[in-house]
Amino acid sequence: MHEQALIDTANALVVDGKGILAADESTGTIKKRLDSIGVESTEKTRQTYRNLLFTADGAQDFISGVILFEETLFQQADDGTPFPKLLADQGVIPGIKVDKGAKPLAGSPEEKVTEGLDGLRERLAEYAAAGARFAKWRGVIDIADDQPTDYCIHVNAHALARYAALCQEAGIVPIVEPEVLMDGANSIERCEEVTDRVLDAVFAELKKQNVMLEGMLLKPNMVIAGKQCPQQAGVEQVAQATLRCLKRRVPSAVPGIVFLSGGQSDELATAHLDAMNRMGPQPWKLSFSYGRALQAPALAAWGGKDENIAAAQQAYLKRARNNGAAARGEYSADMEQAA
Ligand code: 13P
Repeated sequence: MHEQALIDTANALVVDGKGILAADESTGTIKKRLDSIGVESTEKTRQTYRNLLFTADGAQDFISGVILFEETLFQQADDGTPFPKLLADQGVIPGIKVDKGAKPLAGSPEEKVTEGLDGLRERLAEYAAAGARFAKWRGVIDIADDQPTDYCIHVNAHALARYAALCQEAGIVPIVEPEVLMDGANSIERCEEVTDRVLDAVFAELKKQNVMLEGMLLKPNMVIAGKQCPQQAGVEQVAQATLRCLKRRVPSAVPGIVFLSGGQSDELATAHLDAMNRMGPQPWKLSFSYGRALQAPALAAWGGKDENIAAAQQAYLKRARNNGAAARGEYSADMEQAA
């Protein structure tokens, strides 16, 4: 195995003050994002938008890696440079989303299981040849009265570990993402209980399938009340509950935990990460792998217009800078007022 290279890449992704940009929206998801600003989703508009993000000068001071969607991995920047090379030339590590999405789970169709294992070994070889050095696979766990079932947790954990083992065989660092959704009406206590069950199952499967913990990253949800829950927890409470849950379940051999934002507001996602780092030192690096919380203001500022590209890049840089500060526990709300 490529042990040392995997360890080095995993650690480089969580180097001090940096985190990951998740720009790996599938064709369906990026269409929703572009629809929201009145831009038609075509291969060209998707390229233009990703080009805007990846050429924002200065982002490399806060962004260690970018997760790409397959289409983007094989696209070029405006100047003809393949996107993975453009990023690598800035010292940013290119990554690739390799799952094929969450599909209804046979036998429990209200729940989901992530597909994409068939042919994954061959796809990983192609992605590595195109420059990808890390990967992502997202399992989706919904909270409802009688969900998640143990069955759903088990099959998603099993698939995450299968994916992770295949990645490491290919010399690619797996980001293991079991996402407990934040959309429901559940309490923060219920989120903690479910996240605990999920992480317990995921690390049991990773162990059974001989995944090297030192050469992977975990991408979890934070422990938070569902969006529909009238009782929202404060920043300190979210930070404490998330840390308590992670400390019980995530071995210290894992070099880093990079959170998803999951629909939290941009500033709250930053404040939560900052609060956890201020409660440190922790057994692992704590950083971000945000999609919406890094991109939402940039997308809105762009609006599909060339004349807004510079403003959109500034909006993205601001989120990158503030989250970089949060990864060090050095963020303050004043930073939101800065130009
Ligand atoms: P959000 O930060 O928007 O949740 O996206 C992160 C991600 O990659 C989800 O898979």
